Amino acid sequence: VSVHLVGAGPGDPGLITTRGLELLRACEVLVHDRLVAPELLEEAPADAIRIAHEPHTQEEINALLVGYGRAGFDVVRLKGGDPFVFGRGGEEALALAEAGLDFEVVPGVSALSAVPSAAGIPVTHRGLASQVTIITAHCSPAGRGPDYAALAQTPGTLVFFMARRALGEITAGLTAHGLDPETPAAAIASGTLPEQRVVAAPLAEIAAASAELESPLLLVVGDVVSLADRLGPNGRVASVLSGAQSSP
Ligand SMILES: C[S@@+](CC[C@H](N)C(=O)[O-])C[C@H]1O[C@@H](n2cnc3c(N)ncnc32)[C@H](O)[C@@H]1O
Repeated sequence: VSVHLVGAGPGDPGLITTRGLELLRACEVLVHDRLVAPELLEEAPADAIRIAHEPHTQEEINALLVGYGRAGFDVVRLKGGDPFVFGRGGEEALALAEAGLDFEVVPGVSALSAVPSAAGIPVTHRGLASQVTIITAHCSPAGRGPDYAALAQTPGTLVFFMARRALGEITAGLTAHGLDPETPAAAIASGTLPEQRVVAAPLAEIAAASAELESPLLLVVGDVVSLADRLGPNGRVASVLSGAQSSP
């Protein structure tokens, strides 16, 4: 196998897997995403060919992976989180498969649960949530956004990826379809990194409360968020969990 689709983990460079780091340290070509920690890029051999995803299109990246793979180079395609969670890793794997090339997927620690965990939010918790739904806030290529009518009725925890610019739309969509505006919500930016910021607020207030936060940002909606007060890293959770508590 010469092409490896490797998950880099959610941000903190210590959260890559041992297998991923081993491959990274031995690669000849490194094709990496924007969100990957700079410290990890340093781990590749000094003479490795380094290619950043931006400004390439997905099709160009697929072609580069196929080209270097076919030529027999040891290629690491390093992607944030897990390659198969909202990372288009599946499309890259399909391109390699269609070209008849062997490839290996090295799973990564996804922001899906790692980012909430680092903020003191277990995405499942006995008695609070026995189900997790992950959603991209981006529209599909067909222009369809999330199905808020269905999501508002979905029990358990909702985790929205790529949520930074869609916070207002998400809260409006969920509450318009009947989700309680008091449902606990948390916006987590740069999770697992030293600059991690967490803002918790009732759903109806989360967009305004977290307006200062920047990408990458994950939005968690559900009762499990109420645990952040007790389980979150000290001083990092700006909590306005209930209107009553936050008023003077
Ligand atoms: C293109 S997706 C990639 C997800 C990745 N494959 C994974 O498994 O975590 C990028 C989105 O993931 C979320 N994300 C990734 N890393 C994050 C972090 N450290 N803190 C908060 N959100 C993060 C954000 O919603 C961001 O817009």
